Amino acid sequence: MRAFLIIGNKAVTKPFNLNDLAGGAGRMDILCRFVAQALFVSHGIRKDVEVYLLLLGKPDPPKTIKIVGSEVKTMAPDERNIAGLIRRALKVKCDKDWKESTSGIYISKKGLKDLLDELSKRYKIVYLRENGNDIRSFVGKVDDCLFVLGDHLGLKREQEEVVLSFADGIVSVSPISLQADQCVVILHYELDRLTS
Ligand SMILES: C[S@@+](CC[C@H](N)C(=O)[O-])C[C@H]1O[C@@H](n2cnc3c(N)ncnc32)[C@H](O)[C@@H]1O
Repeated sequence: MRAFLIIGNKAVTKPFNLNDLAGGAGRMDILCRFVAQALFVSHGIRKDVEVYLLLLGKPDPPKTIKIVGSEVKTMAPDERNIAGLIRRALKVKCDKDWKESTSGIYISKKGLKDLLDELSKRYKIVYLRENGNDIRSFVGKVDDCLFVLGDHLGLKREQEEVVLSFADGIVSVSPISLQADQCVVILHYELDRLTS
C-alpha cells in the first residue's frame, strides 16, 4: 500500500463554491490536484493507494478526508469533480470516527496527531522535505509508507514537530522546491520502478 497526506493550512472546513477553489475555498485546487495525481493512472485508479487531506481552514478545523482507491466508484480526475466530492463530504456531520460520504470517501474530525497515531500503526511515516535524503537512497524501504507533504505554505514548525515525532525518514525528490502534486508524480514514478 501507498498513502499520501497533504496538510491544507487554509483549506476550508465547510461546503465551498466550486467556482472559487483557489480563493474562497482556501487553495482547495492544490488538494484536488494532489488527489488526482495520487490516485489516477491512464483510464483507471490505483487500488493500492489511500489519500488523506487535512483541512485546517475556517470555520471548523480540523477535518480530515480519507479517499480509498480500492473503494472509490464515481470519481473523475478533473479538479472540479474531485472538489465536488470533497464538498459533499463536508456536508456530513462528523466526529473523531470516520463517516462515509460517498463510496470510498470518508470524513472525520481528526487532527494531525490523531491521524498520525492511527496511520503509524499501518504505515511507515515519511516526511517529504526539500532538504531530505534522496528518495533513491530509500530503496528497499518503500513498502507501506505514508508520505506527508505541505501545501503552498509548507508545514508550520509545530506541525513539523508532530510529523517528525512519528517519522521514519525525511525524503527529498528533487533539488528544486516543487508543488505537492508534482512530488507525488515523482514518488509514484520512483516507487513503480522499484515495485512493478
Ligand atoms: C510548494 S511546496 C511548499 C513550499 C513552502 N513555501 C515551503 O517553504 O515549505 C509543497 C510541499 O511539497 C513538498 N516538496 C516540495 N519540493 C520538494 C522536494 N524537492 N522534495 C521533497 N518534498 C518537496 C514539501 O512537503 C512541501 O511542503
